[in-house]
Amino acid sequence: MSIIFDEVKKTFTLHTKGSTYQMQVDRFGFLLHLYYGRRTEGCMEYLLTFADRGFSGNPYDAGQERAYSMDVLPQELPSQGTGDYRSPAVIVKNGDGSYGCDFRYRGYRILEGKYCIPGLPAVYGDGEEAQTLEIDLEDKVSGVQVTLLYGVLPQLDIITRSGRVINGGSGKIYLEKAQAACLDWVSGDYDLMSFYGRHAMERTVQRTAAAHGAQVISSRRGTSSHQYNPMMILAQRETTEDAGSCYAMSFVYSGGFKGEVERDQYNQTRALLGLSDELFSYPLEPGETFHIPEVVLSYSSQGLARLSQNLHICFRSHLCRGKYRDSIRPVLLNSWEASYFDFDGESIYRLAEQAAELGMEMLVLDDGWFGKRDDDNSGLGDWYVNEKKLGMPLSRLIEKINGLGLKFGIWFEPEAVNEDSDLYRNHPDWAFTVPGRGPVRARNQLILDFSRREVVDYIYEKMCGILDQGNIEYVKWDMNRSLADCYSRQTPDQGRVQYDYMLGLYDFLERLLQRYPNLLLEGCSGGGGRFDAGMLYYAPQIWCSDNSDALDRLSIQYGTSFGYPVSAVGAHVSAVPNHQTGRVTPLSTRAVVAMAGTFGYELDPRKLSEEEKQAIREQIGRYKRHASLIGNGLYYRLSDPLSQEIGAWEFVSEDGSEILVNAVMLEIHGNMTVNYLRLKGLPEGCLYRQEESGMVYGSDALMETGIPLPVEMGEYHAYQMHLERV
Ligand code: GLA
Repeated sequence: MSIIFDEVKKTFTLHTKGSTYQMQVDRFGFLLHLYYGRRTEGCMEYLLTFADRGFSGNPYDAGQERAYSMDVLPQELPSQGTGDYRSPAVIVKNGDGSYGCDFRYRGYRILEGKYCIPGLPAVYGDGEEAQTLEIDLEDKVSGVQVTLLYGVLPQLDIITRSGRVINGGSGKIYLEKAQAACLDWVSGDYDLMSFYGRHAMERTVQRTAAAHGAQVISSRRGTSSHQYNPMMILAQRETTEDAGSCYAMSFVYSGGFKGEVERDQYNQTRALLGLSDELFSYPLEPGETFHIPEVVLSYSSQGLARLSQNLHICFRSHLCRGKYRDSIRPVLLNSWEASYFDFDGESIYRLAEQAAELGMEMLVLDDGWFGKRDDDNSGLGDWYVNEKKLGMPLSRLIEKINGLGLKFGIWFEPEAVNEDSDLYRNHPDWAFTVPGRGPVRARNQLILDFSRREVVDYIYEKMCGILDQGNIEYVKWDMNRSLADCYSRQTPDQGRVQYDYMLGLYDFLERLLQRYPNLLLEGCSGGGGRFDAGMLYYAPQIWCSDNSDALDRLSIQYGTSFGYPVSAVGAHVSAVPNHQTGRVTPLSTRAVVAMAGTFGYELDPRKLSEEEKQAIREQIGRYKRHASLIGNGLYYRLSDPLSQEIGAWEFVSEDGSEILVNAVMLEIHGNMTVNYLRLKGLPEGCLYRQEESGMVYGSDALMETGIPLPVEMGEYHAYQMHLERV
């Protein structure tokens, strides 16, 4: 049993394989947080301390008791208005205009299986894999109720948190803040690891001390964003890859978010994650319910590698869905960096011919095939095939490509519209604009109001109209700007629009997958601007970055690996000099780096030499031989490419029988010192034979001293070693 309620102590204890989470209903009915950390027995109520805390507020029912203060106590759902002056998870504006809610315990239910959230993505698990705890809280005065949801997946060391807010009162209320997860630590020194970036340089790791003064990571862009990822790690100061306590918080949502970490006046640490509260003021009429998007929590007592693996396994097998969840994705050739907007049906067919000749499995026709779209200034919204440009119907092109033995995939950007489009000319009010103001343009495009059903329905029908024209097995779903001017003509309550937009988007994606259950969706947002757990529920892979430079990709993929599995990382081999950086790296290095992802190509094979073509055939063969190990193996970071001379990582099969080791030399110097690659996660006391060299190594020595990497002239050499247990 992973969820236990103790009637006497009024504690709820959630156990996973390696962690315990405990909370308690106290004498006033507050739901206090007691403990989250390594698995333990017992009741941790002794961790609550009570001392007169000067100017901290005391709840009315505590009478004259000054030592009882919500400003100090660890809580499950800190809400504004109880005398806790730290950042709250929930702010309610009541029907009478007053702010504040004081939630007290009402009851609980333990259910088999993991809860779902209507209209929103969420981790799933059946009765064998998961349990759900629902805890009802209520504010007596306003009648507002919250049901907290805890999903426990014991084998995965995962606990999820979400909630339902129900307006049980008689007046309209506004939710001004609604965050799914609060973690309060009464002791300990923590570091916050967050993942910042920019377009073409996403998810750079930053580790800073959780300090006095809130640290906020957030997106007010309506997408999870390039700038901050909706995922945080709180690690004890001494925690490393291989040892120490750490916690992950990952938001299963693709819109604006806010993560806050603050060390308070008593050196306690609070971390919150959930919806952004800016431009958020969600109306609830009496009887209406609001669903708070979920946060996935994980705890590891064995360092960051294990923490990441917990998330990888959970997302791979309990968040991603569909045919491609477990199967190996096709090796694709994407037309974007090969031809940008400059193509016709014949030239795409010739790309496909080359792709087939090299052993690739799918041709993806990127942007430019629809409406009037010869650059990125027009055409978005006009989802009809530009047959004049293609020189043939789409169905004909697909048949020809299928005839080569290749699958066919295609690009869409359903949420966007250009002012220079028939759609905008006919329905200018469907785009987000503020009446009387010129809209903010980005990439010369606007965003459609997906909070409106008729807009979603229209684009959905148009998209299906294209997908029904032939055997389309893959869609790249792009989204190339941040939201702005989020004014919807349909509602007087503009504070609901960004959330409703996400509901519209998720509804679209869900309908699409119901209608085309075998479709492979790849998410994209100017590369990795919407790389989050929410998207993974619909798209098992996401284009990781518009930057396809192998060296930059090392740090982008390194950062991404903290929170997301390799099976989610869209990665391609592109041409040199690289189109984003101008850097030249060896073809073999580009392949090794792209193999830490879904693997594909994004170049014009006609420009390659015979030697390069042969190398590509071999790369594809090698990838396919190891695809299952790469996709399903345990992933270990072997170096930090932001500070070390090498970028290195490793895949270990779950039974330890094989390993794929990868390393890229980032720096070259005169009279070079030797880099030893120390492996991780191997079973002790066994021998491994390296396929390429025939060398036999002891697993303990591999982990203790490592394999010396060659000292070789030239920049950015890569090494990939496959080892099997003897
Ligand atoms: C975005 C994507 C690219 C490509 C272009 C097409 O930038 O990230 O991969 O699809 O759009 O316009």
